[in-house]
Amino acid sequence: MSLAASDTSKVADGRTTSELGAVLPLTAEVRDNHLFVGGVDMVNLAKEQGTVLYVMDEADIRTRMETYREAFRSRYENSDVLYASKAFLNKEILRIAADEHLCLDVSGGGELACAQAVGFPADRIFVHGNNKTPQELREAIAAGVGRIVVDSRIELARVSEIAGELGVEQPIFMRITPGVEIDTHEYIRTGCEDSKFGFTMLNDFAFKCIKDALEAPHVKLVGLHCHIGSQAFALKPFREAAHIMVELMDRVRSEYGYTLTELDLGGGLGVAYTADQHPASIDEFANMTTEAVKDACAEFNMPLPRLLVEPGRSIVANAGITLYTVGILKTLPNIRKYVAIDGGMSDNIRTALYGADYEATIANKANEQRTEIVTLCGKHCESGDVVAVDVSLQRADIGDIVAVFSTGAYCHSMSSNYNGQPRPAIVFVKDGEARVVTRRETYADLFECDI
Ligand code: LLP
Repeated sequence: MSLAASDTSKVADGRTTSELGAVLPLTAEVRDNHLFVGGVDMVNLAKEQGTVLYVMDEADIRTRMETYREAFRSRYENSDVLYASKAFLNKEILRIAADEHLCLDVSGGGELACAQAVGFPADRIFVHGNNKTPQELREAIAAGVGRIVVDSRIELARVSEIAGELGVEQPIFMRITPGVEIDTHEYIRTGCEDSKFGFTMLNDFAFKCIKDALEAPHVKLVGLHCHIGSQAFALKPFREAAHIMVELMDRVRSEYGYTLTELDLGGGLGVAYTADQHPASIDEFANMTTEAVKDACAEFNMPLPRLLVEPGRSIVANAGITLYTVGILKTLPNIRKYVAIDGGMSDNIRTALYGADYEATIANKANEQRTEIVTLCGKHCESGDVVAVDVSLQRADIGDIVAVFSTGAYCHSMSSNYNGQPRPAIVFVKDGEARVVTRRETYADLFECDI
């Protein structure tokens, strides 16, 4: 693969780091030409810990978790916020989520095991996935998880059977595909009709399966779930989805005589990856979704259900940055300038996979203007191994520390050991202190599982 031709007419934006808007972690600042996050000098941290390094702004994460919780509770008392752990998973983030009184969305046995390892209260865990294995279901039911979000008819029978074997009645949700399209990358659009997720509403299939769930032994259907996609900028589709779901709950009540008491509208709120993006705020998202549910319930004369949402990206994306060291510079006349960094698609696959955009700065030149257009490429054996294509950057020298912003979500959690690259360490910073919360992998870790 070769990259699409560089836009050689593109002009660098001349911005300094402080002018990068919403992509900056909340505590980011510039002191003495260096980027600081959480009161910690990112240049010193990179020297001490080495690069590639994931850095997370703890105050930023806690602020967003609290903002979510309060934004919903203040508008809708019977509500809970689940942190979607697929966005960024390690023990520390789960401890923080528990400490901030969030519930948890796990999407399989591994995420559940991590939650159990930190003693996350099982009754606050929701288990997702379109193909949970019988083993994963058994683990989840045995652990006493709060809800299993059933994704198919086959799974409904499995959950019922396993719960029966374990002698429990498992509370469940059913995931519905409401047929709502959102404007995002097709790989992360999930609510549309052609989806591997959930029960389709086509031919009234979901409605019929709800009856099966109500009749199944060993499960208790308490609510419905939908997740229409991720990195959404427009909020209207959430309103549409809420209306469709409440209408379905109303039909269940009137035709089956059963009241579903909970509704989970999933995650999906978008974040800024570039300086000129202005996504909706957490408060605007809370306003739209809570109003939509209240309006729909008023329309159908339904009691207000417990309302749940499952944000991942909008809690962690902007809190995270990745630090790299510049190793090689190559200028191809009239084509592009490559700035090669010491990581790449192994620590951030999003650019190669989705054509994602990122902003970057040179942490040791943070107060200088970004005067060049460059392509930040990685060290992997593929031409498509890029982290940021045609981005503005200060003039780079070998040994500079590059900080790429908004990498807190879906970078570490989608990382790999491609080309034998050990995964980076993760450092949480707060109040001038840096804590390594996940150590850097060693070469020995790479073949630890090999016989
Ligand atoms: N709930 C469910 C059932 C989900 O599938 C997801 C994300 C979320 C909640 C959290 O959505 P968020 O608030 O983070 O948008 N790897 C892609 C994103 C995949 C999203 C998968 N599901 C990316 O890097 O953009």
